[in-house]
Amino acid sequence: MEKFSLSETAQWPRLRELAAEIRATSGSDLLDSRRAARYRLEECGIYLDYSRNLLSDAALDALLELAGQSPLAAHRDAMFQGAAINNTEQRPALHAALRANPAQLVADGLGDFAASLKFQQRDIRAISERIRAGAWLGATGKPVRDVINLGIGGSDLGPKLACEALKEFAHETIRCHFLANVDGEPLVSTLRELDPARTLVIVASKSFTTQETLLNANTVAQWFRERLELANPFASPHFIGITAAPDKALRSGIARERLVEFDESIGGRYSLWSAIGLPIAVSTGYANFARLLAGAHAMDEHFRRAPFASNMPVILALLGIWQRNLLGAESHAVIPYCERLGNLPGYLQQLDMESNGKSVTLAGEPVRHSTSPIVWGTTGTNGQHSFFQLLHQGTNRVPVDFIGVAEDSLSAAEHHRALLANMIAQSAALMRGSFSAQLSAWRHYPGNRSSNVLLLERLTPETLGALLALYEHKTFVQGCLWNINSFDQWGVELGKQLASELLEGQGEASNLDPGASLLLEWLRW
Ligand code: F6P
Repeated sequence: MEKFSLSETAQWPRLRELAAEIRATSGSDLLDSRRAARYRLEECGIYLDYSRNLLSDAALDALLELAGQSPLAAHRDAMFQGAAINNTEQRPALHAALRANPAQLVADGLGDFAASLKFQQRDIRAISERIRAGAWLGATGKPVRDVINLGIGGSDLGPKLACEALKEFAHETIRCHFLANVDGEPLVSTLRELDPARTLVIVASKSFTTQETLLNANTVAQWFRERLELANPFASPHFIGITAAPDKALRSGIARERLVEFDESIGGRYSLWSAIGLPIAVSTGYANFARLLAGAHAMDEHFRRAPFASNMPVILALLGIWQRNLLGAESHAVIPYCERLGNLPGYLQQLDMESNGKSVTLAGEPVRHSTSPIVWGTTGTNGQHSFFQLLHQGTNRVPVDFIGVAEDSLSAAEHHRALLANMIAQSAALMRGSFSAQLSAWRHYPGNRSSNVLLLERLTPETLGALLALYEHKTFVQGCLWNINSFDQWGVELGKQLASELLEGQGEASNLDPGASLLLEWLRW
């Protein structure tokens, strides 16, 4: 894998020619029924329509040929079999193993992992059922009603997304709150509304060193000290820890019996399937958490076994490579037409950009092509009334993933029809465009703007699991073809280190830069 380079493949010169050709094509000529029938897939309750992409049959065939001749299949099998594909940290990437069944894990040589996973899932189940049954009692004997998840990045985004997306299944009285930022305002405002006697805190941190999470935990502990007169709140039933670094968590004072461990081979942004997903089990019930895992596992099986031409993650990844590396797209928008999926763009930002925002190859050499696009977005129809102007007429070409839900029992029929009509119309308008010699230039829509439509049959734990696994594997495929390590994140370290030095007073402002010195002077630091 270390030697593979996208731009040195036999297919690359041909793909460049095909890209130039397609740029000269009118998008409206691509909207025929043969393409509509060919450019679609249905898998795990998700319908993908990619017919509105500036893409020719020849280009798709060449991309598939390239993928077939790349080490992708070998790398994919290595991931499922637990090889140490995260080469800079010498670890496997075991997130898919979290949703596999024990027999499958044994067949893949992951028997030990299966054994520890059993304990982890037993703990998630026991804790969530006790809380949901009103049997998790605080220090004063009152049952817990509010659960605060303190975590950031992957220890926040996945569980928060799933709890919101699956609110149809939420417990009637138990409420989950997510506090991530070190900004004290949301913390103070949330605590003001809560009764400490009925509040449980989950400190969720893979490393148990993350400044934001630890500072937030200390502030909440102080709240318990003051309000409940607890000498050591961390050791009380008001604190649960979830981590891959149990020694550090124990040092904070959290009791061993309230510590749930997960494996360090689970990347933070891939961790919602592990004990980090405890808030999902608390909010929706363990059975629904298991359904989420099952949906993701179904997508894993599809990714593992389907031929590339009908493999949804592979197709999405190849479309992304086509847009990014051959048509020059700098960003990629994700627009869910469903308010309950409003956290999806933020979740995918971490998944995609923290995984693939890299400039060196697996061998540590500079990459010779672009890697992750900038991922962004918000819900539709809201976005239509803010940035869609740029999507339709701006100078940037931004490929879009539109994501909708076919049937929504929580909505009203008239609203839901309007929502989906808008989504489909936007996708059509972007590709088709519109021109009339009678109209002034500002009334022209250039068209030729690509988008995918992903429709979930319903928003259930299974389809949500499948959707998230789909994007995980899309990210993985792109990382393979870009020949980068999708599972480390060294880029985030320097900023953290400088912030710590400033806070600890070791780093004089002048050690940063003159502008930073003036900022600190102005702040009277
Ligand atoms: O700083 C980035 C990061 O390490 C993410 O990869 C991770 O999801 C997040 O911080 C939180 O890390 P932890 O779970 O160790 O607190």
